[in-house]
Amino acid sequence: MCGIIGVVGSSDTLATLLQGLQRLEYRGYDSAGVALVRPGQTWRARTAVGTESVAALRAECASAPSGFRSGIGHTRWATHGAPEAVNAHPLLDCSGNIAIIHNGIIENHAELQEQLEAKGHVFTSVTDSEVLAHLIEDSRIQGLELMEAVRASLLVVRGAFAIAAMDANEPDVIVAARRISPLVVGTAPGVTYLASDVPAILDRATAFYAVNDDEIVRLRPEGFRAIDLEGSPVRLHQLSIDWDLETAEKGGYDDFMTKEINEQPDALRSTLMDRRHKDGTITFDELRIGDDELRDVKRVVLVAAGTSHNAAQVAKYALERWARISVEVDISSEYRYRDPIVEIGTLVIGVSQSGETIDTIMATREAQYRGAHVIAVSNIVDSSLAREADAVIYTRAGLEVSVASTKAFVAQVAALELLALRLAQLRSTLSPSDIDALFLGLNAVGSQVATVLERRDRFEAVAHELKGARDFFFIGRHVGFPTALEGALKLKELSYLHAEGYPAGELKHGPLALIEPGVVVVAVATDPAMHEKILSNLAEVKARGATVVAVATDDDESIAAVADYVLRVPATEQMFTPMVDIVPLQIFAYAMARILGRNVDRPRNLAKTVTVE
Ligand code: F6R
Repeated sequence: MCGIIGVVGSSDTLATLLQGLQRLEYRGYDSAGVALVRPGQTWRARTAVGTESVAALRAECASAPSGFRSGIGHTRWATHGAPEAVNAHPLLDCSGNIAIIHNGIIENHAELQEQLEAKGHVFTSVTDSEVLAHLIEDSRIQGLELMEAVRASLLVVRGAFAIAAMDANEPDVIVAARRISPLVVGTAPGVTYLASDVPAILDRATAFYAVNDDEIVRLRPEGFRAIDLEGSPVRLHQLSIDWDLETAEKGGYDDFMTKEINEQPDALRSTLMDRRHKDGTITFDELRIGDDELRDVKRVVLVAAGTSHNAAQVAKYALERWARISVEVDISSEYRYRDPIVEIGTLVIGVSQSGETIDTIMATREAQYRGAHVIAVSNIVDSSLAREADAVIYTRAGLEVSVASTKAFVAQVAALELLALRLAQLRSTLSPSDIDALFLGLNAVGSQVATVLERRDRFEAVAHELKGARDFFFIGRHVGFPTALEGALKLKELSYLHAEGYPAGELKHGPLALIEPGVVVVAVATDPAMHEKILSNLAEVKARGATVVAVATDDDESIAAVADYVLRVPATEQMFTPMVDIVPLQIFAYAMARILGRNVDRPRNLAKTVTVE
């Protein structure tokens, strides 16, 4: 996946593009490039130096000629073609006048390239995207204006795209289009913008619009006009933006990850704010799904990826225990390929911080096609997932920029547990007093997380002690298991160390063979109901020479007998422990990554929003 940006009518085109690309780096940073267009001239610069590609592009652009009012820019996460300058976007047609940028994958690029080469087109990259430049060129040669040429090209391509195209023979026009990959348009007096997401143009545009699948937009300085693939006019949906630039920047912290870890108490508070009427009814204003329908739900299927999948696994325990509904949790990239069963009363919940993860969107589309009602749990207002779902719950965690997800996890767990309480209320599976007590308990988690954050130094010190270790097993039972999975995911993606999560009881069924001196076992051991069992599991690994780190409650004295290091947290109700227990594990992973000199906000090979399958 990649980030794209464009501007027409600007007096500081290059600065706009470079600043936007910097904010889009979380979508990929294998290479970066810009193309500036004015009558009869296209000027292009591209760099491919890994994580610093945008910074290198800025240096390269120091020699750019001035006076360009329009341009497009791209930051790449390589899919087809090596991450080299020759494959960096913008890509040009044979004449060098048409420049395109593309996020997505053109699935039939090979056959299209063959047809275009037979007509004499010469390709200069090994990307799937370059066919777009030549297809547009072909239509322009036949006399079509740029918007029609883009439309004609999109009629023959298969796959996913957010694209933008410019032509030096039609300057002050950008044509952009979308299928699956995200795209927004922004306007300000005399200037029009496009971008993969809003932060890239947040302080430039004053109004923002979402482009939907198979819509094509023609941007000019004075505004835009949109059509569908048949050429009929369409209106773009105006987005409500409830965050400002400050939230999109680091706010004084060293990096976004530290900022976002520290924002967790606030993320929890705003996710839970205004969720209960005076009469005790739990309410989601944005849900758009009737109480009768919710009451009659027979089965819940949660689909999600990565961290969101770990949050969904926590929710399974709460939904089953409190609302007595049977729950399945699916990896979203697997769901639609296994011929899923959707019966009357199946509710599918797509959980996604970005709301743009293509695997999750495809899973919920499949579920809708098979007749399921779909609820989106999304952090981004008006995300694709939110717009396509029948109903939505927003996690309100605020913008998350760091590639590794932190505050989104705790907010997702809170939102899903709140939904479990609402279902319990509707189905009378818990007493009103139990629901009240749990609701109050959930609202207290934010201050427990704040207490844990004050202990940051201790968690970092343990990371220093273990800086030579290379193999980690994270174990837990009940909701401690998905917490262990999330702890392992944080450590591996940030520090590049080997880390695996296991249900503690499963170790003896195979993984125990790997335990030897030097291996670190990190146990989530805060659950009183499971405490004896996990102590036994820890005794088993200790007997085989492992170093043991335990997340344990303040009052737990017995843990000292088996743990070499203890990460202390306040005790909370069992279902709420993942939101508290994950915090020391996030800080531990962060500290380890810093000690090893990793880029914590931008781990290698990853991207924040994964818009390819
Ligand atoms: C891990 C991480 C990823 C995301 C996953 C899903 O720290 O950030 O595993 O959780 O790519 O992303 P969303 O939630 O946007 O669907």
